Amino acid sequence: MVDWLTGPGLWLSIGVCLIGLFVRGVLYVKGLNWQLDRVAYTAHPKAGLKGALRSIFFWILPFGTHSWRAQPFMTVLFFVFHIGAVCIPLFLTAHTIILKETMGISLMSLNQTIADLMSWGVIISAVFLTSRRLILPEVRILSTAYDYLILILSAAPFITGLICRYEIGSYSFFLIIHVILGEILLISIPFTKLSHILLFFLSRAQIGMDFGIKRGGMKGKGMAW
Ligand code: HEM
Ligand code: HEM
Repeated sequence: MVDWLTGPGLWLSIGVCLIGLFVRGVLYVKGLNWQLDRVAYTAHPKAGLKGALRSIFFWILPFGTHSWRAQPFMTVLFFVFHIGAVCIPLFLTAHTIILKETMGISLMSLNQTIADLMSWGVIISAVFLTSRRLILPEVRILSTAYDYLILILSAAPFITGLICRYEIGSYSFFLIIHVILGEILLISIPFTKLSHILLFFLSRAQIGMDFGIKRGGMKGKGMAW
């Protein structure tokens, strides 16, 4: 079973994830409409590109934007969660070995202590992010079962990965559960709001273009609107 899951199962889940994200990206770009969005995407590509890159850069920089600075504790939780969520699936040594064996892809490997710290960081921040939704009235009112499901789906491979790492209980049982949960996560990415892994960049670029062109970026440069 492990062989199937780390062979064809891995190809299938990574394939669905990447092809699905590609389709989501194409649909997003096709759905753009300069009249409806009121963003002069193609009329001022240089100012637009500059605004897009600027917006993405400051939003992926911890404390880079006013909004990140307004809620420092949330910002720390968010970045601790996301550094592990992005780096562990790609760069954990156990994962890079499997990626190399199954797909021939060589990626750099994280030092085990750093990987452990990142994994614990994800779990601790996921607990806080969930508590935040449960406790703060302004977030609770916006939260649905779907939001909690996404948090659980994202944290599950980390919990089971660490159970394997520390060999708690039956290793082979938990490894199978871990790989199944990891693959469920990968497959659900394009179909759920986890598609933000790609769409974050597209929507930030879109808003950044608006700021770079119309809302300030080209002010005083004879812009018609
Ligand atoms: C480059 C990749 C990624 C980017 C740029 C990104 C960006 C974001 C942003 C901007 C938010 C909204 C934060 C807010 O509430 O203000 C978010 C939330 C979230 N992301 Fe990501 N993300 C990425 C990858 C991932 C991955 C790989 C996972 C899962 C393994 C993930 C899981 C989540 C979850 C569960 C939330 C919701 C947290 C909550 O309920 O408070 N993200 N992400
Ligand atoms: C999809 C296929 C996957 C396979 C085949 C796989 C396989 C493995 C293996 C073999 C280990 C090592 C267990 C040990 O130390 O003996 C591991 C650990 C781990 N995996 Fe995965 N995994 C997959 C997906 C994921 C995903 C998607 C995530 C997170 C989003 C994840 C997070 C972890 C974590 C946190 C650990 C433990 C990290 C540590 O050593 O500190 N895995 N995985």
